[in-house]
Amino acid sequence: MLIIDVISIFPKMFNNIINYGVIKEAFNKNLCQLNVYNLREFTDDKHKKIDDRPFGGGPGMIMKIQPIDSVVNFIKKKNNIINKELQKTILLTPKGSRLSQSKLKYFSNLENIIIICGRYEGVDERVRELIADMELSIGDYVLTGGEIPSMVVIDGVIRLLSGVVGKEESLKYESFEDNLLDYPQYTRPPTYKGYKVPEILLGGNHKEIEKWRKEKAINLTKKRRPDLFDKNN
Ligand code: ADE
Repeated sequence: MLIIDVISIFPKMFNNIINYGVIKEAFNKNLCQLNVYNLREFTDDKHKKIDDRPFGGGPGMIMKIQPIDSVVNFIKKKNNIINKELQKTILLTPKGSRLSQSKLKYFSNLENIIIICGRYEGVDERVRELIADMELSIGDYVLTGGEIPSMVVIDGVIRLLSGVVGKEESLKYESFEDNLLDYPQYTRPPTYKGYKVPEILLGGNHKEIEKWRKEKAINLTKKRRPDLFDKNN
């Protein structure tokens, strides 16, 4: 059972993410647990402030370390994970290292991930030094906060938990396993508005179909993601 703890100033943003499809099933099967903590409830400040002006000046507000430290300690105490290697605290920030399928796989084998959703202009640097085990970005663009990126992590991790995606096969052949993008897929009807499904997929020659799919995956990856393709060589 993977315990996912999320720390946010907008906890209601997470209200619906566990109510659909494969993710809903994972929760119904008790393969994971999601707890969302409202950062504001952990501040010592009498005005419930969770941010302040940056030392040295500059625009925007910086998230304070105290409430983040308090909530992370609260979560760690509550979960009482014995093997600390199986518990990781992740800060979501555009400065982080890039999220990848292999990182998701790594998270799916842990017992607890604690996700801190950054907001505003940034977080006090000491959160990076003292609290976060790693910093992650979901891509080279800036969003208003770590909430949506954390949903990306949550969704991507949960579907990798064993017992979630029905056919292990569907995980094996998908994009990024082998550093290849997915081959094209079709379903009925075989002809739609004159557009035909490739003949080879309609016959039953599985060896030929597999060869065709591999070729398509390689060609698409070379064309669209040469960076990914180069990892194979
Ligand atoms: N917060 C804002 N932008 C982000 C991004 N690209 N990845 C992770 N966290 C973020």
